[in-house]
Amino acid sequence: SQNSAIIVHIMNNFTYTLEHSDGEARAGQFSTPHGTIQTPVFMPVGTQATVKTLDPLEVEAIGSQIILSNTYHLYLRPSADLVAEMGGLHRFMQWPKPILTDSGGFQVFSLGPHSKIDEDGVTFKSHIDGSKHRFTPESAIGIQEKLGADIIMAFDECAPQPTTHAYTKAAMERTHRWLLRCIAAKTRDDQALFGIVQGGVEADLRRESASFIAQQDVPGIGIGGLSVGEPKDQMYGMLEETTPLLPRNKPRYLMGVGSPEDLLEGVARGVDMFDCVLPTRLGRNGALFIPEGRLNIGNAKYAREDAPIDATCDCSTCQRFSRAYLRHLFRTEEVLGLRLATLHNLRFLIRLMEQAREAILQDRYQSFMDDWLSRFQTIPH
Ligand code: GUN
Ligand code: ZN
Repeated sequence: SQNSAIIVHIMNNFTYTLEHSDGEARAGQFSTPHGTIQTPVFMPVGTQATVKTLDPLEVEAIGSQIILSNTYHLYLRPSADLVAEMGGLHRFMQWPKPILTDSGGFQVFSLGPHSKIDEDGVTFKSHIDGSKHRFTPESAIGIQEKLGADIIMAFDECAPQPTTHAYTKAAMERTHRWLLRCIAAKTRDDQALFGIVQGGVEADLRRESASFIAQQDVPGIGIGGLSVGEPKDQMYGMLEETTPLLPRNKPRYLMGVGSPEDLLEGVARGVDMFDCVLPTRLGRNGALFIPEGRLNIGNAKYAREDAPIDATCDCSTCQRFSRAYLRHLFRTEEVLGLRLATLHNLRFLIRLMEQAREAILQDRYQSFMDDWLSRFQTIPH
């Protein structure tokens, strides 16, 4: 059938294979110089070249296929030159599998309120010591080439929301011009440069941006500017404007998303890749994902509970430790608590995407998602 026709895109060292689709939901594979990623996939975030609290061996053991890191942070500390001198990001942090780096555009705006944008680039102040720096499309590519990730992102402008249609359009058009400069600046063929769709919450601009990015010779496509405070239904609506216009033979990456329900809703609308600090950040705050929603481990009602966090979870935390013990670790501020919670939350999202992939391959994605969402409540337990 057409749903299981194998569709392939090959560019240098990168091949995307669309194995199967079920409605808009897709099961695929993306091969990179450091291994093949099975999609849909959740990418743990390692902003400072570390997935906070975990040894990379543990990150691998929970089924992570690819991690994300940040140009902005690594450029400021320890610098791209130092990482390059140490053999690149994979060797420096001892992570042998694929890595994706974000380009820095988004972080400049979210961390440096005093950044100034012009046609050529962005001038910003370091959030660490206030020192002045500048990124351009060319320097963002140069830095990402020194870091050496498998997937690198175009330098874009994510217009701060809420804003006008006119400003969103200007930012989108600049992002398109900057993508052409990123493509021209790129020198390595062992890195995949993804373009980024912008357009805020404006349906016409989303369609225009999707069409423009779809025409470019890039091996994958990021969808940016979402999950920045807009209502969830609006984000889902923007995805519905965007993904139908993208080529079927390239992976789609929804940047900075997110929650378990957003991952499932994103997959239903044709997204293949996700990243977010949510599971790791929530975990360090004692908020743990369970099939019924979110559990706050500090709650007194767990003081004598011998059961694991999630009896249906296959992570090492849930195999070995009780809710009572986890609660004790959080109340005494022991670092082991942060580690065990991070492991569980990451495994929860990685397994959710593994289950989604199985459901797509078996043409039962919609019922899998409906069933899963009917159990999952967004209010804390
Ligand atoms: N991370 C989350 N959203 C975005 C975005 O719009 N652009 C970039 N570069 N990174 C992001
Ligand atoms: Zn678990």
